[in-house]
Amino acid sequence: MTSYKDKIDPERLPQHVAIIMDGNGRWAKQHGKHRVFGHKNGVVSVREAAEAAAELGIPYLTLYAFSTENWSRPKTEVNALMRLLLQTIKDEVATMNKNNIRLNAIGDLQSLPQRNYMHLMKAIEQTSSNNRMTLTLALSYSSRWELTMVARRIAEDVVAGRCTPEEINQECMGKYLTTSSLPDPELLIRTSGEFRVSNFMLWQIAYAELYFTNKFWPEFRREDLYKALVDFQCRERRFGKTSEQLIKK
Ligand code: FPP
Repeated sequence: MTSYKDKIDPERLPQHVAIIMDGNGRWAKQHGKHRVFGHKNGVVSVREAAEAAAELGIPYLTLYAFSTENWSRPKTEVNALMRLLLQTIKDEVATMNKNNIRLNAIGDLQSLPQRNYMHLMKAIEQTSSNNRMTLTLALSYSSRWELTMVARRIAEDVVAGRCTPEEINQECMGKYLTTSSLPDPELLIRTSGEFRVSNFMLWQIAYAELYFTNKFWPEFRREDLYKALVDFQCRERRFGKTSEQLIKK
């Protein structure tokens, strides 16, 4: 059977792929199981996506694992997700080191349970010298939270005389974002047939190509990532210019 992988041009890979992992609950329901069953199976998809992206040579992969809004889910589900996250981080450090993957995290990390925070920081430290791919987990993250923090920190710097209002430009904004060490995502994938960006990296996806699939996250496999990449490579990215200008260039 031919794979979409064979159709990928390795020279034109997106440098940063971001994924809104959605549909764990609906997938579990379809199987007559509790929502947490969906989250557990979602971890398999996380592994598949991370390994496939690293093997292809994509340098940055970011996964929306828990939004600030997700705190309002039933307490039992939030606790189960936090336990799953903790276990996965502990279990996967060795594999990340084997695969030369650096773990990173963005979001209001201090709001995570202390054990999660500690193990997350430890895993980030233990994988910090890996350089094949940076896997960023967005945890307790939302774009409005992030942009509010940026506004607050800029205001503090202006008040303290560290910069002037005139010095605030787009480049400087980027430096205040939690993603300051990452390039902007070029491809944003959302699973489960929902057509929303749900408060995810609103500043950073300004020019990202959006790709939606009906697959629920626990069903997402390497082949689905390959398919999204082939679709991405068929798009004409104009960045506000005309097609003719792009050809001339
Ligand atoms: C969305 O499905 C998924 C989440 C809110 C959590 C994602 C978590 C995982 C895949 C497992 C742990 C992750 C890592 C990185 C170890 P949903 O619950 O919103 O599904 P629904 O829309 O069908 O209800």
